[in-house]
Amino acid sequence: MSETYNIGLGNNDSETRKTAESDYVSFWDNQAKALSWFSPWTKTLDWQPPFAKWFVGGTINASFNALDVHQNTRSEKTAILWEGEDGESRTLTYGDMFSQVQKFANVLKSLGVQKGDRVTIYLPMVPELPIAMLACARIGATHTVVFSGFSASSIRDRIDDSKSKIVITADGGYRRGKVVKLKEVIDEAIQNFDFVEHVVVLERTKNEIKMSSKDKLWNDLMKNASESCTAEKLDSDHPLYILYTSGTTGKPKGVLHGTGGYLTHLHSTFKWAFDIKDSDVFFCTADIGWVTGHSYVVYAPLLHGATEVMYEGAPDFPDASRMWDILQKYKVTIFYTTPTALRMFMKFGDDIPNSFDLSTLRLLGTVGEPINPEVWKWYYKIIGKEKCPIIDTWWQTETGGMLISPLPGLETIPLKPGSGTRPIPGVNIEVVDENGASVEPNTKGYLVIKNPWPGMLLTLWGDDEKYKTVYWSKYENCYYPGDYALKDDDGYLWLLGRADDVLKVAGHRIGTAELESCIVSHNDVAESAVCGIPDEVKGEVIIAFVVLKQGVSKSDILEKQLIEKIRNDIGAIATPKQIYFVSKLPKTRSGKIIRRLLKAVANGEKIGDVSTLEDGAAVSEVQQSVEDLKRSMNT
Ligand code: WTA
Repeated sequence: MSETYNIGLGNNDSETRKTAESDYVSFWDNQAKALSWFSPWTKTLDWQPPFAKWFVGGTINASFNALDVHQNTRSEKTAILWEGEDGESRTLTYGDMFSQVQKFANVLKSLGVQKGDRVTIYLPMVPELPIAMLACARIGATHTVVFSGFSASSIRDRIDDSKSKIVITADGGYRRGKVVKLKEVIDEAIQNFDFVEHVVVLERTKNEIKMSSKDKLWNDLMKNASESCTAEKLDSDHPLYILYTSGTTGKPKGVLHGTGGYLTHLHSTFKWAFDIKDSDVFFCTADIGWVTGHSYVVYAPLLHGATEVMYEGAPDFPDASRMWDILQKYKVTIFYTTPTALRMFMKFGDDIPNSFDLSTLRLLGTVGEPINPEVWKWYYKIIGKEKCPIIDTWWQTETGGMLISPLPGLETIPLKPGSGTRPIPGVNIEVVDENGASVEPNTKGYLVIKNPWPGMLLTLWGDDEKYKTVYWSKYENCYYPGDYALKDDDGYLWLLGRADDVLKVAGHRIGTAELESCIVSHNDVAESAVCGIPDEVKGEVIIAFVVLKQGVSKSDILEKQLIEKIRNDIGAIATPKQIYFVSKLPKTRSGKIIRRLLKAVANGEKIGDVSTLEDGAAVSEVQQSVEDLKRSMNT
């Protein structure tokens, strides 16, 4: 039996859960009424498995709900407290955001952007990033934000797949005191892309850049832009954004989110999970390049008219006290971060956070990976001073918003370190076996979601078939997220990591297939397989096994080339910790790599009996390749 912590905020609304259980469709219907709609919907849910349309016939606008709705009551209220990595700070009120977003929406229109067009945004964590996103949303353009750590070739693929007409970038961004030259990356990424009509360049670092006829400076365009731009009335399922994410196939998938359902999900979960009040100062450390930043830095806090901190740089720059310094400076009340960040802070020792005044904190959260109980307890004790509930929130790029989390804004339940507790109201989540039958309590199985929810992805951009096979083919009419889980005797859910070939390195999602196809595209490589091994700080790190072509021998130069290639093709986040050159990979007769064995070898675990291998693998060959792997790991 694991320890429980009886800490809550005193909220006890059992009605919400009851209504949700009796009829999830009318439950969400009611939740959606908290938003401002131009015209009401005629049907709450049109469910043609696996395609769900929420609030059919209703028209809405995300930018209107984030900004216009607050102008009478909160135009002077701070929306964003921005802290630059270099210590610079900016404060933007709801009024400032409103005028900037309208101006930039007019800029986009003047560049020919129309409803339905895609716009790629490759910006550092500066206020112009949410401004650009909300400007797109205002005119019905679909934004596709690419994390500013991705390489030219990754961005090229994403711009090409989305056929973005406009790219928005900056001259550079700061990372650990250095300038990352973003505009140069875009110049390389869009070579020969005639469909990209303009590149808008924000001057952030003032480093030298080459300007071509397509390029326009953000400030020049904004100078003469009108401050008034009416928000478009968009259908509820109008595509708000595409966010590319790694999966089990070589190519990143464009997860497509709509508007009305997505916003409803965010509005409700933000209220339930964070118990948001007008007086709160919210701080989510996620980069907007990932889904957590889209949902809980940009849309959810602004829907609620909240005040939030947005930080530009690395959490430990210039030193290990930076995060606590920000919390103290802005009197943060709600802090939402990742287990990786917490493990790093924990390693730096207790004295650092103990030397700051963190007494304004009242609620803590984590997301992105399983949190180890000892890290949870450290967070609870050292950061929260045993007075803040911790919400461990489970969700995915595809789910749009949280699906499993304690909800202190709604109810008080005992917390267990390492468990996300229960699903949010209005979603039915189970743990099942290979055949889809519910497993006994305390048994590891697969997590499945048994009904559609409002934040659910619409589809994969341009690929309905892949959408069906990736998420809906393992179990009939159930969404399969690809995670292992178990339910304990109290019905608490414990998320146990990925069940597929997706790695979570420092909370970033990396598909093994994408990485393998990058390595194999090197001329000297015949085959490759990558897997994750546990890491004290990053959760897991990448190990790559590489089989070279006949006649090629391993060398330091080759290793360097491969690492360079991964950095160039994908980005630094996908760099393996170690590359092992081996002569053979363990395979089945039909040629499938036996990842189970690979992982076991990489993790130094006992291999066990290989005579009962699936798919009739040749036992002796497999044994030999396992020996080979082991040997190569020791040399
Ligand atoms: C993992 C991030 C355990 C999970 C919002 C999921 C978690 C993947 C948790 C999605 C958590 C996310 N506990 N695991 N609280 N939150 N995950 O798309 O494996 O970057 O499938 O979305 O992260 O990652 P993504």
